Amino acid sequence: MKKYLVIGNPIDHSLSPKLHNYWIKDNNINAVYEKKKIEVNEIGDIILNIKKKKINGINVTVPFKKEVISYLDQLSPEAQITQSVNTISLDNDKIVGHNTDTEGFRLAIENKKFDLKNKEILILGAGGVVPSLIFALKKMMVSNIFVSNRTRKKAENLKDSFQYIKIIDWGNVPKVDMVINATSLGLNKEDNLGLDFSKIGKNKLFYDVIYNPKETKFLELGKKLEHKTENGKMMFVYQASLAFKLWHGINPKINEDVIELLD
Ligand code: ATR
Repeated sequence: MKKYLVIGNPIDHSLSPKLHNYWIKDNNINAVYEKKKIEVNEIGDIILNIKKKKINGINVTVPFKKEVISYLDQLSPEAQITQSVNTISLDNDKIVGHNTDTEGFRLAIENKKFDLKNKEILILGAGGVVPSLIFALKKMMVSNIFVSNRTRKKAENLKDSFQYIKIIDWGNVPKVDMVINATSLGLNKEDNLGLDFSKIGKNKLFYDVIYNPKETKFLELGKKLEHKTENGKMMFVYQASLAFKLWHGINPKINEDVIELLD
């Protein structure tokens, strides 16, 4: 039986096992997908198990998407540019790191028919997921990407890889077409960003990478101000489906049943 894992810390909240095991069963694959909470010093040993074929694939979540890179033989172009790996596979005896968050986000936006071409975007936060968002937005040919982070230096560091982004002070909300919450504020339902969105204009898109809770205070406010809102659920589903395709060579089905699994 093949074995797959998601590693992270914390890991209890991860819905990846539920989703992957559903698709494994649905496709009659002889495999199991589990979650494992690890410490940073365990990464090397776990990844070595891929070479030994004791583990057939690994998903990586917070906070190890960058740390795993030094243990890999190869990176996909997306993983290379974002320096963020969420999926690991063995290809021709090489341990390869992939990033399916980038394409997962792009597909989520595309499938909702949001056209971001020539649009201006504000990203709140500068943590692990942000390089994937920036790279996907660039692919979607947005005109401007502003990044605002409480710790400005962390946003400035992103310019090393993405020279075209513009950094703005935390607390400033420019008039943009889309605001993305990529901070961890919202994971607790009562978390409040404390930003003033009143000058952003009308009928914008408020997007939260968080999908649990379904509606963060940020999305609640967006709705109240009559903007369009979208949470990170479909990005999560698409990044998982792309990992599934890499490992099993099958595009798993994405329908109401699958989406309801995550409620
Ligand atoms: P990491 O920074 O380790 O990659 P993350 O969960 O990916 O972790 O990112 C957390 C993001 O939420 C960061 O952008 C963080 O801002 P700082 O860089 O200033 O820490 C942001 N964040 C967390 N708590 C916040 C708060 N109370 N107010 C504003 N931003 C916050």
